[in-house]
Amino acid sequence: MVQNQTDNSAWTGKMKSRIFLIGFMGSGKSTLGSKLARKIGFDFVDMDQLIEETAGMRIPAIFNEHGEQIFRKWEHDILLELCDRENVVVSTGGGAPCHNDMIRIMNDHGATIYIQLPPLALKDRLFYSKTERPLIKGKSEPELVEFITTLLGEREKYYQQARYIVNGVNLKPEELAALLEGS
Ligand code: S3P
Repeated sequence: MVQNQTDNSAWTGKMKSRIFLIGFMGSGKSTLGSKLARKIGFDFVDMDQLIEETAGMRIPAIFNEHGEQIFRKWEHDILLELCDRENVVVSTGGGAPCHNDMIRIMNDHGATIYIQLPPLALKDRLFYSKTERPLIKGKSEPELVEFITTLLGEREKYYQQARYIVNGVNLKPEELAALLEGS
């Protein structure tokens, strides 16, 4: 586990009342997030699900009908709303921290945790996942490996700005709870 200490000026215990899980598609943010929330008695919000409920459309339809830029704007708007909540664990979409200054917004309002996994582990999870994800739809296994490797390479600099960076292999919600407890 790595703990970034660069931006400590605004860090207070109160910021731990908002936990943002970040990381690539398939890194387990939603599963871990809901279990972590239950464990520490916080609410759980899946940002993608909240966008879908607010828009009244599924994410693939938002991408199809409105395009990625509009999706990113809605993602940003929802994030700002979530920054007003307390005692909440938020699982964010894989691209959220990498657009519209969202990593800074999350770091300013809560504890960000990057769940880090290597491209091949992500590929294994995504190739068999039943969740429809517009960015990877229809890709063969080798295409998926190449896509993940390239996009993760571009996104890593945003993910690395998280307050905590944890290895996502066999990660348990208890470990995340202990991490927050200890800091
Ligand atoms: C995206 C990840 C998805 C969802 C959208 C775009 C991305 O969320 O927000 O399909 O840009 O990586 P998950 O990380 O929950 O799959």
